[in-house]
Amino acid sequence: MNILAIESSCDETAAAVVRDGREMLSNAIASQADEHRLYGGVVPEIASRRHAEAISGITRAALEEAGMTLGDIDAVAVTYAPGLIGALLVGVNFTKGLAEAAGLPLIPVHHLRSHIAANYLVHPDLKPPFLCLVVSGGHSHIVRVEDYTRFTVLGRTRDDAAGECFDKAARAMGMPYPGGVHLDKTAQNGNPAAFALPRPHVEGSPLDFSFSGLKTAVINLLHKADQRGETVNIPDLSASFQQTVCDILCTNLMKAAEQTGDTTIVLAGGVSANSGLRKAVQSACDERGFSLFVPPLSLCGDNAAMVGAQAFYEWKAGHVAGPDLNAVATMPIEKEELP
Ligand code: KG4
Ligand code: ZN
Repeated sequence: MNILAIESSCDETAAAVVRDGREMLSNAIASQADEHRLYGGVVPEIASRRHAEAISGITRAALEEAGMTLGDIDAVAVTYAPGLIGALLVGVNFTKGLAEAAGLPLIPVHHLRSHIAANYLVHPDLKPPFLCLVVSGGHSHIVRVEDYTRFTVLGRTRDDAAGECFDKAARAMGMPYPGGVHLDKTAQNGNPAAFALPRPHVEGSPLDFSFSGLKTAVINLLHKADQRGETVNIPDLSASFQQTVCDILCTNLMKAAEQTGDTTIVLAGGVSANSGLRKAVQSACDERGFSLFVPPLSLCGDNAAMVGAQAFYEWKAGHVAGPDLNAVATMPIEKEELP
Protein backbone atom coordinates (compact mmCIF):
# COMPACT_ATOMS: atom_id res chain seq x y z
CA MET A 1 0.00 0.00 0.00
CA ASN A 2 1.53 3.35 -1.10
CA ILE A 3 0.67 6.26 1.19
CA LEU A 4 1.34 9.89 0.28
CA ALA A 5 1.79 11.72 3.60
CA ILE A 6 1.80 15.44 4.40
CA GLU A 7 3.23 17.19 7.50
CA SER A 8 2.82 20.89 8.38
CA SER A 9 2.40 21.00 12.18
CA CYS A 10 5.20 23.47 12.93
CA ASP A 11 7.87 25.01 10.70
CA GLU A 12 8.62 22.17 8.28
CA THR A 13 6.50 21.64 5.16
CA ALA A 14 7.01 18.00 4.25
CA ALA A 15 5.65 15.30 1.94
CA ALA A 16 6.67 11.66 1.53
CA VAL A 17 5.64 8.38 -0.04
CA VAL A 18 5.83 5.30 2.22
CA ARG A 19 5.05 1.69 1.29
CA ASP A 20 3.33 -0.57 3.84
CA GLY A 21 4.42 1.57 6.79
CA ARG A 22 8.04 0.46 6.58
CA GLU A 23 9.60 1.44 3.25
CA MET A 24 10.42 5.10 2.62
CA LEU A 25 10.14 5.78 -1.13
CA SER A 26 10.66 9.54 -0.79
CA ASN A 27 10.98 12.17 1.91
CA ALA A 28 10.85 15.83 0.83
CA ILE A 29 11.20 18.64 3.38
CA ALA A 30 11.11 22.44 3.05
CA SER A 31 12.29 24.04 6.29
CA GLN A 32 11.34 27.57 7.33
CA ALA A 33 13.84 27.65 10.19
CA ASP A 34 16.01 30.32 8.53
CA GLU A 35 13.14 32.80 8.52
CA HIS A 36 11.95 32.06 12.08
CA ARG A 37 15.55 32.38 13.30
CA LEU A 38 15.29 36.14 12.72
CA TYR A 39 12.61 36.25 15.45
CA GLY A 40 14.22 33.76 17.85
CA GLY A 41 11.38 31.24 17.51
CA VAL A 42 8.49 30.10 15.32
CA VAL A 43 6.07 32.89 14.36
CA PRO A 44 2.76 31.03 13.79
CA GLU A 45 1.35 33.46 11.20
CA ILE A 46 4.53 33.27 9.11
CA ALA A 47 4.56 29.47 9.42
CA SER A 48 1.02 29.18 7.98
CA ARG A 49 1.82 31.44 5.06
CA ARG A 50 5.03 29.59 4.18
CA HIS A 51 3.23 26.23 4.34
CA ALA A 52 0.62 27.55 1.89
CA GLU A 53 3.39 28.59 -0.50
CA ALA A 54 5.47 25.41 -0.23
CA ILE A 55 2.93 22.58 0.07
CA SER A 56 2.09 21.96 -3.60
CA GLY A 57 5.73 22.01 -4.70
CA ILE A 58 6.93 19.77 -1.89
CA THR A 59 4.17 17.24 -2.64
CA ARG A 60 5.13 17.19 -6.31
CA ALA A 61 8.77 16.71 -5.25
CA ALA A 62 7.84 13.74 -3.04
CA LEU A 63 5.93 12.05 -5.87
CA GLU A 64 8.77 12.70 -8.34
CA GLU A 65 11.41 11.40 -5.92
CA ALA A 66 9.36 8.20 -5.55
CA GLY A 67 9.00 7.96 -9.36
CA MET A 68 5.21 8.06 -9.01
CA THR A 69 2.11 10.00 -9.95
CA LEU A 70 -1.06 10.37 -7.87
CA GLY A 71 -2.40 7.36 -9.79
CA ASP A 72 0.14 5.11 -7.98
CA ILE A 73 -1.04 6.25 -4.53
CA ASP A 74 -3.52 4.18 -2.50
CA ALA A 75 -4.26 6.63 0.33
CA VAL A 76 -3.29 10.10 1.56
CA ALA A 77 -2.37 10.93 5.16
CA VAL A 78 -1.91 14.13 7.10
CA THR A 79 -0.82 15.34 10.53
CA TYR A 80 -4.02 16.79 12.01
CA ALA A 81 -2.98 17.21 15.69
CA PRO A 82 -1.32 18.49 17.83
CA GLY A 83 0.54 21.59 16.59
CA LEU A 84 0.13 25.21 15.54
CA ILE A 85 -3.48 25.41 14.42
CA GLY A 86 -2.95 27.64 11.39
CA ALA A 87 -0.02 25.51 10.24
CA LEU A 88 -1.96 22.25 10.68
CA LEU A 89 -4.95 23.65 8.78
CA VAL A 90 -2.84 24.21 5.67
CA GLY A 91 -1.82 20.54 5.55
CA VAL A 92 -5.27 19.25 6.48
CA ASN A 93 -7.08 21.32 3.84
CA PHE A 94 -4.56 20.50 1.14
CA THR A 95 -4.71 16.76 1.87
CA LYS A 96 -8.53 16.79 1.98
CA GLY A 97 -8.48 18.38 -1.46
CA LEU A 98 -6.16 15.65 -2.75
CA ALA A 99 -8.33 12.91 -1.25
CA GLU A 100 -11.50 14.37 -2.78
CA ALA A 101 -9.99 14.99 -6.20
CA ALA A 102 -8.27 11.61 -6.47
CA GLY A 103 -10.97 9.59 -4.68
CA LEU A 104 -8.50 8.30 -2.08
CA PRO A 105 -8.96 7.39 1.61
CA LEU A 106 -7.85 10.15 4.00
CA ILE A 107 -5.88 9.03 7.07
CA PRO A 108 -5.49 11.46 10.00
CA VAL A 109 -2.23 11.07 11.98
CA HIS A 110 -1.30 12.28 15.47
CA HIS A 111 2.07 14.06 15.41
CA LEU A 112 3.63 12.26 18.39
CA ARG A 113 2.50 8.87 17.12
CA SER A 114 4.30 9.64 13.87
CA HIS A 115 7.52 10.57 15.71
CA ILE A 116 7.47 7.10 17.27
CA ALA A 117 6.75 5.52 13.86
CA ALA A 118 9.92 7.09 12.38
CA ASN A 119 11.62 4.09 13.98
CA TYR A 120 9.59 1.61 11.89
CA LEU A 121 11.19 3.00 8.72
CA VAL A 122 14.69 1.94 9.78
CA HIS A 123 14.18 -0.93 12.24
CA PRO A 124 12.32 -3.73 10.42
CA ASP A 125 12.31 -5.91 13.56
CA LEU A 126 10.79 -3.27 15.85
CA LYS A 127 7.22 -4.14 16.84
CA PRO A 128 5.07 -3.07 19.81
CA PRO A 129 4.89 -3.48 22.72
CA PHE A 130 7.82 -1.29 23.76
CA LEU A 131 8.60 1.67 25.96
CA CYS A 132 9.26 4.98 24.23
CA LEU A 133 10.67 8.33 25.33
CA VAL A 134 9.11 10.93 23.02
CA VAL A 135 10.95 14.23 23.38
CA SER A 136 10.26 17.11 21.03
CA GLY A 137 9.97 20.89 21.04
CA GLY A 138 6.46 20.71 22.44
CA HIS A 139 6.25 17.40 24.35
CA SER A 140 8.15 15.12 26.72
CA HIS A 141 6.39 11.82 27.30
CA ILE A 142 7.26 8.36 28.51
CA VAL A 143 4.83 6.24 26.52
CA ARG A 144 4.13 2.52 26.55
CA VAL A 145 3.34 1.63 22.94
CA GLU A 146 0.94 -1.25 23.59
CA ASP A 147 0.18 -1.71 19.92
CA TYR A 148 0.66 0.42 16.78
CA THR A 149 -2.39 2.52 17.62
CA ARG A 150 -2.72 1.99 21.40
CA PHE A 151 -0.68 4.06 23.82
CA THR A 152 -0.42 4.52 27.59
CA VAL A 153 1.31 7.65 28.87
CA LEU A 154 3.32 6.81 32.00
CA GLY A 155 5.11 10.14 32.46
CA ARG A 156 4.83 13.62 31.04
CA THR A 157 6.21 17.10 31.58
CA ARG A 158 4.34 19.34 33.99
CA ASP A 159 5.70 22.51 32.39
CA ASP A 160 8.30 22.99 29.64
CA ALA A 161 9.06 20.26 27.11
CA ALA A 162 12.66 19.02 26.92
CA GLY A 163 13.21 20.64 23.51
CA GLU A 164 11.72 23.92 24.69
CA CYS A 165 14.08 23.84 27.67
CA PHE A 166 17.07 23.18 25.37
CA ASP A 167 16.02 26.03 23.07
CA LYS A 168 15.44 28.54 25.89
CA ALA A 169 18.72 27.70 27.63
CA ALA A 170 20.54 27.94 24.29
CA ARG A 171 18.91 31.27 23.53
CA ALA A 172 20.00 32.63 26.93
CA MET A 173 23.54 31.54 26.04
CA GLY A 174 23.33 33.52 22.78
CA MET A 175 22.81 30.64 20.36
CA PRO A 176 20.52 30.95 17.31
CA TYR A 177 17.07 29.27 17.04
CA PRO A 178 16.52 26.34 17.22
CA GLY A 179 19.23 26.18 19.86
CA GLY A 180 19.10 22.49 20.85
CA VAL A 181 21.49 21.34 18.15
CA HIS A 182 23.94 24.23 18.83
CA LEU A 183 23.91 23.53 22.55
CA ASP A 184 24.61 19.85 21.82
CA LYS A 185 27.65 20.78 19.67
CA THR A 186 28.94 23.34 22.19
CA ALA A 187 28.59 20.80 25.01
CA GLN A 188 31.11 18.49 23.29
CA ASN A 189 33.92 20.84 24.40
CA GLY A 190 32.70 21.44 27.94
CA ASN A 191 32.98 19.91 31.39
CA PRO A 192 29.61 18.47 32.49
CA ALA A 193 30.66 18.67 36.16
CA ALA A 194 31.47 22.41 36.03
CA PHE A 195 28.05 23.64 37.20
CA ALA A 196 25.69 21.97 39.69
CA LEU A 197 22.19 22.58 38.32
CA PRO A 198 18.86 21.69 39.95
CA ARG A 199 17.21 18.37 39.07
CA PRO A 200 13.57 19.16 39.77
CA HIS A 201 11.32 16.16 40.31
CA VAL A 202 7.56 16.05 40.63
CA GLU A 203 6.45 15.10 44.14
CA GLY A 204 4.29 11.98 44.10
CA SER A 205 4.72 11.38 40.33
CA PRO A 206 8.20 9.89 39.90
CA LEU A 207 7.84 9.41 36.13
CA ASP A 208 6.77 13.00 35.39
CA PHE A 209 9.18 15.77 34.41
CA SER A 210 9.53 19.42 35.33
CA PHE A 211 12.07 21.45 33.36
CA SER A 212 11.11 25.05 33.99
CA GLY A 213 13.19 25.32 37.21
CA LEU A 214 16.27 24.10 35.38
CA LYS A 215 15.72 26.57 32.56
CA THR A 216 15.28 29.41 35.07
CA ALA A 217 18.46 28.35 36.91
CA VAL A 218 20.48 28.70 33.69
CA ILE A 219 18.93 32.08 32.88
CA ASN A 220 19.56 33.36 36.44
CA LEU A 221 23.14 32.11 36.44
CA LEU A 222 23.87 33.99 33.20
CA HIS A 223 22.04 37.08 34.42
CA LYS A 224 23.93 37.24 37.71
CA ALA A 225 27.28 36.73 35.98
CA ASP A 226 26.40 39.53 33.57
CA GLN A 227 25.52 41.88 36.44
CA ARG A 228 28.84 41.12 38.12
CA GLY A 229 30.72 41.63 34.86
CA GLU A 230 31.90 38.00 34.92
CA THR A 231 32.06 35.75 31.88
CA VAL A 232 30.53 32.29 31.95
CA ASN A 233 32.26 29.38 30.26
CA ILE A 234 29.55 28.53 27.73
CA PRO A 235 30.84 25.07 26.73
CA ASP A 236 30.96 24.11 30.45
CA LEU A 237 27.46 25.44 31.07
CA SER A 238 26.15 23.68 27.92
CA ALA A 239 27.73 20.39 28.98
CA SER A 240 26.41 20.69 32.56
CA PHE A 241 22.93 21.59 31.33
CA GLN A 242 22.84 18.79 28.75
CA GLN A 243 24.04 16.20 31.22
CA THR A 244 21.39 17.29 33.75
CA VAL A 245 18.51 17.10 31.25
CA CYS A 246 19.71 13.76 29.86
CA ASP A 247 20.13 12.32 33.37
CA ILE A 248 16.57 13.32 34.30
CA LEU A 249 15.12 11.88 31.07
CA CYS A 250 17.14 8.67 31.29
CA THR A 251 16.50 8.09 35.01
CA ASN A 252 12.71 8.36 34.62
CA LEU A 253 12.75 6.20 31.48
CA MET A 254 14.60 3.42 33.33
CA LYS A 255 12.23 3.75 36.31
CA ALA A 256 9.33 3.29 33.89
CA ALA A 257 10.99 0.19 32.41
CA GLU A 258 11.37 -1.24 35.90
CA GLN A 259 7.66 -0.62 36.47
CA THR A 260 6.43 -2.17 33.20
CA GLY A 261 9.07 -4.87 32.77
CA ASP A 262 9.75 -3.72 29.20
CA THR A 263 13.17 -4.56 27.78
CA THR A 264 12.73 -2.85 24.40
CA ILE A 265 13.36 0.88 24.61
CA VAL A 266 12.80 3.42 21.81
CA LEU A 267 13.67 7.11 21.46
CA ALA A 268 11.64 9.51 19.31
CA GLY A 269 11.23 13.24 18.54
CA GLY A 270 13.59 16.11 17.78
CA VAL A 271 15.51 15.85 21.06
CA SER A 272 16.29 12.18 20.39
CA ALA A 273 18.98 13.61 18.07
CA ASN A 274 20.85 14.80 21.17
CA SER A 275 24.22 13.06 21.45
CA GLY A 276 24.22 13.11 25.26
CA LEU A 277 20.75 11.57 25.46
CA ARG A 278 21.60 8.83 22.97
CA LYS A 279 24.77 7.96 24.94
CA ALA A 280 23.10 8.06 28.36
CA VAL A 281 20.18 5.85 27.30
CA GLN A 282 22.48 3.48 25.39
CA SER A 283 24.68 2.89 28.42
CA ALA A 284 21.68 2.48 30.76
CA CYS A 285 20.24 -0.09 28.31
CA ASP A 286 23.60 -1.90 27.98
CA GLU A 287 23.87 -2.19 31.78
CA ARG A 288 20.44 -3.83 31.94
CA GLY A 289 20.67 -5.93 28.77
CA PHE A 290 17.84 -3.95 27.11
CA SER A 291 17.54 -3.39 23.33
CA LEU A 292 17.58 0.25 22.28
CA PHE A 293 16.17 1.59 18.99
CA VAL A 294 16.79 5.19 17.90
CA PRO A 295 15.83 6.97 14.68
CA PRO A 296 18.65 8.15 12.37
CA LEU A 297 19.36 11.88 12.81
CA SER A 298 17.59 12.57 9.49
CA LEU A 299 14.28 11.23 10.90
CA CYS A 300 14.43 12.70 14.44
CA GLY A 301 12.97 16.08 13.47
CA ASP A 302 9.66 16.73 11.74
CA ASN A 303 9.23 14.94 8.40
CA ALA A 304 6.42 13.33 6.44
CA ALA A 305 7.90 9.83 6.06
CA MET A 306 7.13 9.19 9.73
CA VAL A 307 3.54 10.31 9.06
CA GLY A 308 3.29 7.80 6.20
CA ALA A 309 4.65 5.05 8.46
CA GLN A 310 2.10 5.63 11.24
CA ALA A 311 -0.69 6.17 8.70
CA PHE A 312 -0.38 2.59 7.46
CA TYR A 313 -1.15 1.25 10.95
CA GLU A 314 -3.94 3.80 11.53
CA TRP A 315 -5.50 2.66 8.25
CA LYS A 316 -5.21 -1.00 9.29
CA ALA A 317 -7.03 -0.09 12.53
CA GLY A 318 -9.83 1.51 10.49
CA HIS A 319 -8.90 5.10 11.33
CA VAL A 320 -9.99 6.84 8.15
CA ALA A 321 -11.44 10.38 8.21
CA GLY A 322 -14.41 11.84 6.39
CA PRO A 323 -14.47 15.09 4.40
CA ASP A 324 -15.22 17.04 7.59
CA LEU A 325 -11.76 16.35 9.09
CA ASN A 326 -10.48 19.34 11.06
CA ALA A 327 -7.13 20.23 12.63
CA VAL A 328 -6.78 20.18 16.43
CA ALA A 329 -4.12 22.16 18.33
CA THR A 330 -4.00 19.92 21.41
CA MET A 331 -4.76 16.23 21.61
CA PRO A 332 -3.46 13.46 23.87
CA ILE A 333 -1.59 10.63 22.16
CA GLU A 334 -3.89 8.01 23.75
CA LYS A 335 -7.12 9.32 22.19
CA GLU A 336 -8.66 6.37 20.37
CA GLU A 337 -11.86 7.57 18.80
CA LEU A 338 -11.92 8.98 15.29
CA PRO A 339 -11.48 12.75 14.85
O1 KG4 B 1 10.20 16.93 17.04
P1 KG4 B 1 10.68 18.27 16.62
O2 KG4 B 1 11.41 18.40 15.33
O3 KG4 B 1 9.49 19.30 16.58
C1 KG4 B 1 8.43 19.24 17.44
O4 KG4 B 1 7.52 18.41 17.23
O5 KG4 B 1 8.48 20.03 18.42
O6 KG4 B 1 11.58 18.80 17.82
C2 KG4 B 1 12.24 20.01 17.75
C3 KG4 B 1 13.05 20.19 19.01
C4 KG4 B 1 13.61 21.59 19.12
O7 KG4 B 1 13.37 22.05 20.43
C5 KG4 B 1 15.09 21.37 18.87
O8 KG4 B 1 15.93 22.31 19.48
C6 KG4 B 1 15.29 20.01 19.45
O9 KG4 B 1 14.17 19.29 19.02
N1 KG4 B 1 16.56 19.39 19.01
C7 KG4 B 1 17.57 19.09 19.83
C8 KG4 B 1 18.62 18.56 19.03
N2 KG4 B 1 18.19 18.56 17.74
C9 KG4 B 1 16.92 19.05 17.74
N3 KG4 B 1 17.69 19.23 21.17
C10 KG4 B 1 18.84 18.84 21.73
N4 KG4 B 1 19.89 18.34 21.03
C11 KG4 B 1 19.82 18.17 19.70
N5 KG4 B 1 20.85 17.65 19.01
ZN1 ZN C 1 7.71 17.07 15.99
